[in-house]
Amino acid sequence: MESDLQSRFVDTLRGRNALLMTDANSNSGQHAGRFYITTPIYYVNARPHLGHAYTTIVCDAIARRKRALGIETWFLTGTDEHGQKIERSAKAAGCTPQEFSTRIAGEFRGLWDRLGLTYDDFIRTTEERHKRGVQKLFATLREKGFIYKGSYTGQYCVSDELYVDGPPGTPCPDCGRITETVSEENYFFKLSAFERKLLEFYEANPEFMGPESTRREVISFVRGGLKDLSVSRTSFSWGIPVPGDEKHVVYVWLDALANYITALGYGSDLVQDQEKFEKFWPADIHLIGKEISRFHCVYWPAFLMAAGIPVQRSVRANGWLLFDQGKMSKSRGNIVRAETVHEILGADALRYFLLREIPFGQDGNFSFDALVQRYNADLANGYGNLVSRVVNMVHKYFGGVAPEAGAATPAEAALRASAEAAIAAFGHAFDDLDFSDALKTLWALVAETDGYLTANAPWKKPPERSDADHAALQARVLVTAAETIRIITALAYPIVPDAAAKVWRQLGQGELGDAAKKAFLTDLAWGGLKAGTKFGEPAPLFPRAEKDTVERMQNLEDENGRRAVEAAGGEEEEVKRPPAVAAPPAPDVKAAAPKAPAAPGKPPAPVAATVPAAPASAPATPAQQVAAEAAPAAPQHITIDDFAKVELRVAQILVAERVPKADKLLRLEVDLGYEKRQILAGIAEYYEPEKLIGRKIVMVANLAPRKMRGLESNGMLLAASLEDGAPVLAGFLEEVPPGARLK
Ligand code: MSP
Repeated sequence: MESDLQSRFVDTLRGRNALLMTDANSNSGQHAGRFYITTPIYYVNARPHLGHAYTTIVCDAIARRKRALGIETWFLTGTDEHGQKIERSAKAAGCTPQEFSTRIAGEFRGLWDRLGLTYDDFIRTTEERHKRGVQKLFATLREKGFIYKGSYTGQYCVSDELYVDGPPGTPCPDCGRITETVSEENYFFKLSAFERKLLEFYEANPEFMGPESTRREVISFVRGGLKDLSVSRTSFSWGIPVPGDEKHVVYVWLDALANYITALGYGSDLVQDQEKFEKFWPADIHLIGKEISRFHCVYWPAFLMAAGIPVQRSVRANGWLLFDQGKMSKSRGNIVRAETVHEILGADALRYFLLREIPFGQDGNFSFDALVQRYNADLANGYGNLVSRVVNMVHKYFGGVAPEAGAATPAEAALRASAEAAIAAFGHAFDDLDFSDALKTLWALVAETDGYLTANAPWKKPPERSDADHAALQARVLVTAAETIRIITALAYPIVPDAAAKVWRQLGQGELGDAAKKAFLTDLAWGGLKAGTKFGEPAPLFPRAEKDTVERMQNLEDENGRRAVEAAGGEEEEVKRPPAVAAPPAPDVKAAAPKAPAAPGKPPAPVAATVPAAPASAPATPAQQVAAEAAPAAPQHITIDDFAKVELRVAQILVAERVPKADKLLRLEVDLGYEKRQILAGIAEYYEPEKLIGRKIVMVANLAPRKMRGLESNGMLLAASLEDGAPVLAGFLEEVPPGARLK
């Protein structure tokens, strides 16, 4: 039964939605002066890395600017904790999914705090407030006739939590991993009913999604036809029970997407929650990584339309952060941790680099070299040096008190005009999320101010200039330069908040945190730095990074990685570089034999892909295109002769048993057609030995024998490795005899 308040709440929503639907599908609401921005909620099966930090930092910068413009802002982030892969990861880590999620969610939150990110709320999908909201949403969709019961037999990608069309063995179009066949009685959402509505909605709201590549991809996906979507699962239990039918859990994406409203109080009886929802929904921006556009631009608006809730105002997708040319991700093993950069160069350096270096919406490469170069050029030698020169001279020549500037000459007028133009240009670019351009504009002003100082050389008195004239020049030039720095600093604050706060104090402007609360960005007019202002003590901002900085970061990253592996019981993130062999759309395939410690810089064992090649004429799916874009620009090829050195053969398992005192190892006897072999494989946590007997596998037949636990292993079997580390054995759909060679 809905409480009185609840039904009033729902009526308001219905009323809003009626407006939404009649008003040419417009999703523009009227909560001017308020702003709601969200990050995706991060899966807890991987610890946070720079890719996650990137999206969250972008949101933080936007939120800071909005607040400093006097806009009441709500910035939400959190963690996505349900689903089969979390359940599996917890099992592999030997703890309950709740314990596992709590630990990793704590790591995300702890890192965001260390980086100084100013989120207003952190939602975990295992929280009661979320569960209540999801169940309410599900019940509403069912009451309105958009959810029905049916049965589903088909393919499912556990890693992406995605239903996939196609026969058994079909790879996931997003990640390339082989899908699992699931057969279940499910609840279905009538997504097919929203095909036309969504297309009309996109048409009526051209600003709804971006960048353009995302918009095109989503529209073509919807035009390709929408099928009803299974929105419950029965084969595992780690999720939110379907109200009234508790053997089902809610599909993780319906669960996860709902966080954007449950965090605001959707589903709550409390008046203050309902007011918060009223105040901030619909969200202004869901900022996401490009690989999850479909969920945010198709499923989520459809769920909202069906439930009678206004649709979010916009979705903006960032590109991928690449490392060594591959998408930074746990499964590729090419992770850099934000902590590493934070410890050595500080959070501002990381923020500046990410926003300056990568045009928002595009993929961008991360490298320690590029980071250090930019840091030294733009922050240490550029902005940092400019501030230090000016503040030191004000102390030296004027006892640290800003003098009267006197009348401006054309040089000051020109600098002032540039600063005023920069305020406008920076604002436009930033508000278009073109952070790189915004910073380029601002740093051009840093360079111009530097040039102005050098040209006027207030530190040098030519003999022909009188003392009085020189003092007047010093006052004019230093106050003009300091005023320009004040404007640069205010604009740069959302991106380099720690440095900006220091500069603010050095310019005698007090605490920037307080200024930000008073909407200081709304009043940046030239002349804010008043004569008589007492400057603070000069203090270093960005000490120059020495030659060994790259090496120190690399060492620290390796050390961080080792600690993470140890903390995870030696199971995680061993490989610090992506495979030298480039595998197309990244089916993450690797050997499932126990891992030998990877030598630094050495490529891992040879890999073989199990994904069937697409027919030459088949158009690439958007996801394949995305994967292709992320593929190495200049892959390190091997020759056919190199490949021929690896003898891959079909083998049939004759005997499979656990190895005493080795939890992860199975001893297998296999038939290679021409001989029998013993091999050891680290798959005991995922495969019951008795179920393996008779199964045909792929193995590397010419690997040098190795001893493990006193037993000799004569070969290595191949398996795909899922995000959570679970192996999936390579196999065949057709009959193949033992011994057949893979070429
Ligand atoms: N849990 C889902 C999102 C649910 S939102 C209702 C999910 N989680 S995730 O942890 O796999 O990734 C979340 C986001 O992290 C990505 O969408 C992206 O914003 C960010 N990134 C993760 N790796 C990244 C890069 N290498 N580069 C840039 N962003 C990356 O998907």
